[in-house]
Amino acid sequence: DDKLSAFAEEISNCQACGLSAGRTHVVFGAGAPDADVMFVGEAPGQEEDRQGLPFVGASGSLLTRMIEAIGLTRESVYIANIIKCRPPQNRDPQRDEIAACEPFLKRQIDIVQPLVICTLGRFAAQTLLQTTTGMGRLRGRVYDYEGVRVVPTYHPAALLRNPQWKWPTWEDLKRVRLEYDGV
Ligand code: URA
Repeated sequence: DDKLSAFAEEISNCQACGLSAGRTHVVFGAGAPDADVMFVGEAPGQEEDRQGLPFVGASGSLLTRMIEAIGLTRESVYIANIIKCRPPQNRDPQRDEIAACEPFLKRQIDIVQPLVICTLGRFAAQTLLQTTTGMGRLRGRVYDYEGVRVVPTYHPAALLRNPQWKWPTWEDLKRVRLEYDGV
């Protein structure tokens, strides 16, 4: 899509926050420009920074399986992050970095116009839903973000460390599928 790639080009040299100093690539996002389902993660890790693509490391393999578990493919959805540049040592994103980067995600949502957004992990959920509530209490409900349904779930990296969250995540993914189906 012209609008998305023009926008990616526009921010490819972004210096809006300090993360620009340590990055290899701005990790803009990937997938179908007209996707009905969008996944939003936290920030690029080492492999994402190296390749310039979202979710291509260990948590990316799990995200691919999560997407396929509900009958979709990586190519048919859109995948982006709250933060487009890798934080040093994968530390948590800071408030000022989120503030600098969030407008870019908003613009991507505007262009893609998904039916449903699945947020991965607490940073994505808390940023889009403007809350400080933790994941355990946030998940299990459908929210609204400017007319788009939002289904919060755990981050794949968290699932790799906490297998007991797999079942609730599966419940959330089934909800994503139902929203996509218009049920
Ligand atoms: N974790 C994220 O939140 N995003 C990525 O792109 C990769 C890992």
